[in-house]
Amino acid sequence: MAAAAAAPKKRILILGGTGFLGPATVEAARQRGHELTLFNRGRTRPGLFPNIETLTGDRDPKKGEGLKALEGRKWDAVIDNSGYFPRMVSASARLLAPNVKQYVFISSISVYARNDVEGADETAAVATIPDPAVETMGKEFENYGALKALCEKAARDALPGRAMVVRPGYIVGPDDPTGRFTYWPVRVDRGGEVLAPGSPADPVQFIDVRDLGAWLIRLVEDGTAGVFNATGPEKRLGMGDFLAACRTGPVKFTWVTPAFVGEQKLAMPIWDAYEGETRGAHTWSNARAVKAGLRFRPAAATAKDTLAWYKSPGSEARRKLAGPTAEQEAAALAAWRKR
Ligand SMILES: NC(=O)c1ccc[n+]([C@@H]2O[C@H](COP(=O)([O-])OP(=O)(O)OC[C@H]3O[C@@H](n4cnc5c(N)ncnc54)[C@H](OP(=O)(O)O)[C@@H]3O)[C@@H](O)[C@H]2O)c1
Repeated sequence: MAAAAAAPKKRILILGGTGFLGPATVEAARQRGHELTLFNRGRTRPGLFPNIETLTGDRDPKKGEGLKALEGRKWDAVIDNSGYFPRMVSASARLLAPNVKQYVFISSISVYARNDVEGADETAAVATIPDPAVETMGKEFENYGALKALCEKAARDALPGRAMVVRPGYIVGPDDPTGRFTYWPVRVDRGGEVLAPGSPADPVQFIDVRDLGAWLIRLVEDGTAGVFNATGPEKRLGMGDFLAACRTGPVKFTWVTPAFVGEQKLAMPIWDAYEGETRGAHTWSNARAVKAGLRFRPAAATAKDTLAWYKSPGSEARRKLAGPTAEQEAAALAAWRKR
């Protein structure tokens, strides 16, 4: 491919690399012929990449050797996949600032203060937290978004004009350890009567990990800076079309109201009620990212590959299903019919 041959080889450091987004990014970088270094504690899937230089240390400078392994080394770009606390992002960003051209911080669409506005973009206000030095996520993970926003700031402060912030929505696809998106292709493949939340027109957003990984490498090749929502698809996708894209055989969808989902305490993965506080949760603008080259494979391709991965021998250790169990779903469907 002419474009691949033309892209100059970059030296890329990934802080992390062995979870979910890391391996997809590694794969994309390899395809484009870049040189990689990973930095992690060696706990998550050690030995996953025997042929890639891996530096051992901890994001927390207070733990063990901390960031020492990064000292005195130079890279074109760093992709920070594992930053959750501003003190630690600040430490790595300051240490690396003289030695890298670009710092790509992987944040989250959860940084925003509100989810009730439809079609909001990157200029929307981010969440705040009473104690910015807190270093726990909280019982309900309630500190996550505000802490990610502070991490973004830490990266920007250390590398003004050279930090780039990517705010992904649900990252999904083969190898996803959360079981959230995966629930749908697996459940629909089982067939029968499927409890579907809300209405077929309710919007749903997510990004295939492979599309995100490929785009991150493109951003490095282009040396892009700025703040970007990274979620898809390009055109609005309704839950109805999404579930249809998961179909592998005969199946019947029974749509229940958001109120019923709440009454039954059903945790329906990657869906949010298209009303009230969550009306905008799946309508974030991705126009900036699309302009910067983010592309999306069809939802049906993500669903098909995720199902194939889930069923494949070897995925047992990582595969998981969020959402109601078969028994919970059957009981809820029975309750719905009785209403
Ligand atoms: N999943 C989603 O839907 C979603 C949505 C929006 C944003 N995000 C963001 O996406 C990012 C990607 O996450 P990922 O887990 O897939 O990335 P990853 O790079 O594939 O995996 C995380 C890596 O971080 C390393 N790590 C964890 N704690 C560390 C520490 N204290 N010091 C050094 N290394 C450490 C882990 O290795 P060791 O354990 O061996 O250290 C592992 O290699 C995260 O920032 C997350 O907030 C995720």
